[in-house]
Amino acid sequence: MKASETKATLSFSNGGQNVELPIYKGTMGPDVIDIRKLYAQTGMFTYDPGFMSTASCESAITYIDGDKGELLYRGYPIEQLATNCDFLETCHLLLYGELPNTTQKTDFTKLVTNHTMVNEQMQFFLRGFRRDAHPMAIMTGLVGALSAFYHDSTDINNPKHREIAAIRLIAKMPTLVAMAYKYTIGQPYMYPKNELSYAGNFLHMMFATPCEEYKVSPVLERALDRIFILHADHEQNASTSTVRLCGSSGTNPFAAIAAGVACLWGPAHGGANEAALNMLHDIQKAGGVDKIGEFIKQVKDKSSNVKLMGFGHRVYKNYDPRAKLMQETCKEVLNELGLENDPLFKLAMALEKIALEDEYFVSRKLYPNVDFYSGIVQRAIGIPVPLFTAIFALARTVGWIAQLNEMIGDPEYKIGRPRQLFEGSPKRDVQPIAQR
Ligand code: ACO
Repeated sequence: MKASETKATLSFSNGGQNVELPIYKGTMGPDVIDIRKLYAQTGMFTYDPGFMSTASCESAITYIDGDKGELLYRGYPIEQLATNCDFLETCHLLLYGELPNTTQKTDFTKLVTNHTMVNEQMQFFLRGFRRDAHPMAIMTGLVGALSAFYHDSTDINNPKHREIAAIRLIAKMPTLVAMAYKYTIGQPYMYPKNELSYAGNFLHMMFATPCEEYKVSPVLERALDRIFILHADHEQNASTSTVRLCGSSGTNPFAAIAAGVACLWGPAHGGANEAALNMLHDIQKAGGVDKIGEFIKQVKDKSSNVKLMGFGHRVYKNYDPRAKLMQETCKEVLNELGLENDPLFKLAMALEKIALEDEYFVSRKLYPNVDFYSGIVQRAIGIPVPLFTAIFALARTVGWIAQLNEMIGDPEYKIGRPRQLFEGSPKRDVQPIAQR
C-alpha cells in the first residue's frame, strides 16, 4: 500500500476539530481514504450499507474497471485468458500469481487430478437429501461437510495446509456437483477419470453412465472450460466478501467456502443465470419476440418488482466483458449442436437489442452481465437449469480460496467486524409479564 502525498480532511459544520485522513494509492483504480482511526479520533463510524464506497481489503488478485468494462486476473485481460489458456492454467494464475510454464502446468494438473475423488462416505451424506432438493442446497451441505473430513489436518496458519485445502477444493468441486446431479436423477455416481481434462472429466461425471461409453465433445469441453475461466474470480463480490468475512474468524476453510456457496445462490448474484433462463422461458411461453415490448414495460414499472435478469451490475457500467465472450461461446456451441435457430438464443439477442436502445437501460447504464448468455450455453450442453448456479460455484471456488488464502497470509489481517447505526429502543426495564 503506497501512501499518497495528498491527505483528505474531514471537517464538521458544528465547528468540531478537523480530522486528517491518509490516502493510499493502488497500482490501478480509485485511491482509498484510510478511516481506520476515525472512530478513535471522532467517536463516529462511517455508514455504507451495501459497500457502495468501501474497499473492504487490499488485494492483488483481480481488477475490474467497471466504466471501461475491463476484467483482469493478476493483470491479464479476461479476453486473452479465455482464448489462450485453460481453466487449470487460470487456477494456477489466481492461486500463485503467475501463469504456469509447461512443467508447472503438468505438475499442477497432476496435483489437482490426484485429489478428484471424494471420501466414499460423502454418498451417505447425499442420501440424506430429498431427491428434489435444490442443487445449491445440496452443495452448501456437501462443501460444509468437507470440513469434517479435513478438519484435524488443516492448520490455516500453515501456508502448505492452505495450499492443499485450495487444491482439494478445486479438485473435488466437479465431483460433488456431478454427484448432486446424479443423485437427483437417480443415476449411479460416476467416479472421476483422471486422464480427461478438468472440463472433460466434469462432462464425463455428469453425462456418462456405467453401461455406455461416453465420448467428450471437444467443442462442449472447450465451452465449459471457458465458462469456468469467466467465472473464476471477480474481486470483492458478495460471495467472496462472505468467504473472507467467514474465514476471518479463523474457521475451517471448507466451512468458509460453504458460506460462499450459500451467498452465491441468491438471484441478485449467482442465481441470476437460472433466473435469466427462466425469464426467457416465460417470455417464450407468453408469445416470444412479440412479447418483449410488454415485458420491458413491466420491468420499467417499479411496482411490478420484475427485473431484466442477467442485466445490470454493481461495478460494470458498460458491457460486461464476460458477457461478450459468453455470447461468442453461445454461438459456437449452438452451431456445433445444430441449434443455430435456437428460439431462446434468438429471443435473448432480440431482448438485448431492445434493452440496449431503451432510455431506461441506457440512462442507468444497464448492460448484459455474464449470466445473460451463460444459461443458454449450459442448457445447450445439457446441464439442467437448477444446476447452473452450482456450475458457477464450481468455477468460483478457485477465486474464493485464492482470496481467502491471500487474506490469511497477510500478517495484518483482523477478524471482520462491521459496526452499525443503532435505531432501536433506548435502554428500558423489563416489566413483569402481567403488566406487559
Ligand atoms: N432490470 C431492471 N432495472 C434494473 C436492473 C435490472 N436487471 N438492474 C438495475 N436496475 C435499476 C434499478 O431498479 C435502479 O433503478 P432506479 O435508479 O430507478 O432506482 C438502477 O437500475 C440501479 O440499480 P441498483 O439496484 O441500485 O444497482 P445495484 O448495484 O444495487 O444492483 C444488481 C446490481 C443486483 C446486479 C442489479 O442490477 C440486478 O438485480 N440485476 C439483475 C440480477 C442479475 O443479473 N444479477 C447478476 C449480477 S452478476 C453476477 O453475480 C455474476
